[in-house]
Amino acid sequence: MNDDNWKDYQRFKISNQDVNAYYDLVRTAFIKGVEKVSPPSKFSNAIDLGCGSGELTQELLKYADLITGVDSSPKLIQLAQQTSDPMKSNFVLSDVLDQGFFSLLNEERFDLVTAAWLHNHLLHETEQHQLLKRILDLLNPEGAFVFLIPSSAFASPRTQSFIAKLGWKQAWLEESYHCSKGVYSFSDSDWVEMNVWQPMWLADLYMKDFSVNFLDVKAISLSHRGMGDSLIEPPFDVMFGHRKESINKV
Ligand SMILES: C[S@@+](CC[C@H](N)C(=O)[O-])C[C@H]1O[C@@H](n2cnc3c(N)ncnc32)[C@H](O)[C@@H]1O
Repeated sequence: MNDDNWKDYQRFKISNQDVNAYYDLVRTAFIKGVEKVSPPSKFSNAIDLGCGSGELTQELLKYADLITGVDSSPKLIQLAQQTSDPMKSNFVLSDVLDQGFFSLLNEERFDLVTAAWLHNHLLHETEQHQLLKRILDLLNPEGAFVFLIPSSAFASPRTQSFIAKLGWKQAWLEESYHCSKGVYSFSDSDWVEMNVWQPMWLADLYMKDFSVNFLDVKAISLSHRGMGDSLIEPPFDVMFGHRKESINKV
């Protein structure tokens, strides 16, 4: 996706009350996921992959002394830098799969890795494996992860009619046992390719190295009345856990 499309995405997120309500639910669920893995005291540091303009990244400051955000969009990284405290945050321009990414972070290791709506931008199975490897390299032995990912309901006709009301369009082109391939567009921006990886397929991938759990996003949505008057199956899941070395502490 090009930089201008991401600017459109930023505009879309605040375009009307219903979209606001939807992203409020997203934020609430993301934070609840972080609370599930947080120690009683704060993490020393946390990194948010595919951070966009850094809104969710900055929420992490309640749970970590220092935060880092990484994104491949120059405009969004610039926006994140402009709206954050440079003493506590570091926003880095990079593709998370790039080889040089690690040296940009001075080989730093993190207590927490988060990613919201990132996995769906990696279109090939090999890239999911690369991302997992990257996360293992980034995390301390006791490290935790929180991912916000599209749920199985994301590609359903019911979700399509709900999100059409928000001004978001999607079309599904191909289904396989672990992935729905499609395209989406918001506010008449260009069509962008996306893959909805089945959450259970991703869970299976991460289970070798991590304890893996899911939040009950349906319950959060019920108590939050998060999507305006529409109580639909939530189109996202929150998956979280710790590295297996620290599994006894989960
Ligand atoms: C849907 S946005 C989500 C932004 C943010 N996490 C949020 O929830 O507000 C996806 C973000 O992932 C970034 N992205 C996609 N593929 C990436 C990659 N390979 N490396 C780094 N960033 C990537 C995009 O630039 C975009 O900002």
